[in-house]
Amino acid sequence: MPASESTPLTDPRGRPLRDLRLSVTDRCNFRCRYCMPKEHFGPGFRFLPRADLLRFEEIARVARVFASLGVKKLRLTGGEPLLRSDLPDLVAQLATIDGVDLALTTNGSLLESRADELVRAGLRRVTVSLDSLDEAVFRQMTDAALAPAQVLAGIEAAARAGLRPVKVNCVVRRGVNDHGIVDLARHFKGTGHVLRFIELMDVGATNGWRMDQVVSGAEIVEKISRELPLEPAEPTYRGEVAKRWRYVDGGGEIGMITSVTSPFCGDCSRARLSAEGSVYTCLFATTGTDLRGPLRSGASDAELGELIRSLWSRRDDRYSELRSENTKTLRRIEMSYIGG
Ligand code: GTP
Ligand code: 5AD
Ligand code: SF4
Ligand code: SF4
Repeated sequence: MPASESTPLTDPRGRPLRDLRLSVTDRCNFRCRYCMPKEHFGPGFRFLPRADLLRFEEIARVARVFASLGVKKLRLTGGEPLLRSDLPDLVAQLATIDGVDLALTTNGSLLESRADELVRAGLRRVTVSLDSLDEAVFRQMTDAALAPAQVLAGIEAAARAGLRPVKVNCVVRRGVNDHGIVDLARHFKGTGHVLRFIELMDVGATNGWRMDQVVSGAEIVEKISRELPLEPAEPTYRGEVAKRWRYVDGGGEIGMITSVTSPFCGDCSRARLSAEGSVYTCLFATTGTDLRGPLRSGASDAELGELIRSLWSRRDDRYSELRSENTKTLRRIEMSYIGG
């Protein structure tokens, strides 16, 4: 029996280690204002040098160790993971790990031409970010020199390649894209894709987050439901990030990710590995634990496992539940570095 089944690894709050999000690059071809505002991530910004990034073999090895400790879901993130042109090679290595779900979160800009190759390599699921169908609003949110049609083409290509249902993430910012919420809902209703709205979060230290820019999940549901009636649906699994709602007329479902107004730390089973090999036990962490050093100085799988086990056994994170005036000044790690 694998160690994970005999001695389930839980943190002091009883939360198991089930998900690992793997950031493969801290770079991105978008400059979403809520994630990588161009004033902070301009031409002079120093991204991680190539030599500091984990090699795919190293990422796969770490993922295997995590799987031996109970991880059931691997999600590739960035920055923008498809900027690594050889990503299918990593997908192929991760796809050989038994019993784990393998997903990708992407901004969709490069997905149209890559979806088939990713599926052939063993990718099972994809989540694509799309904040607006309106070109001007899309640009205002993402600062990307690209039209939403390109992302929509990526979503359709992913579905055709078999990555169904495609999940679509929309971050909502009051006064910028909130007037397009119902248009987005209408667009995806009946397509089989699952649209999720994310409350604007205070991740990182550069996005100038303010509470008055947050549109609550409750307000979003109300807005959509007025035109396209919704009813609550049960979670698919314990600890699901998005709260599910379904269209009363059978047109499918949508999700609300309410990290600000209704945090979900109580069931949080997620660890994150940065592109340079540090492990973070919370999206809002200020420090990580280096695995690259031990990896490159000959640590065995058992030793790496012990490091992770010890870290998880001490984990006390619940940032979203504690969010307050006192947490405002923390030097939180950027989401583009740690992965969404
Ligand atoms: P599936 O249910 O497996 O599809 O995964 P998911 O919903 O966890 O994946 P996804 O990456 O699409 O997560 C959706 C978004 O929710 C992320 O991109 C983040 O914006 C947010 N999110 C995910 N995990 C956390 C978390 O642990 N804490 C907070 N505060 N937000 C999270
Ligand atoms: N608030 C909410 N969601 C965010 N994302 C990135 N930054 C933020 C933020 N500040 C979302 C992206 C993507 C996912 C990885 O996280 O839009 O869908
Ligand atoms: Fe890039 Fe995603 Fe961050 Fe936007 S949210 S800047 S697409 S990593
Ligand atoms: Fe998990 Fe931290 Fe998000 Fe809470 S704030 S759900 S502990 S990642």
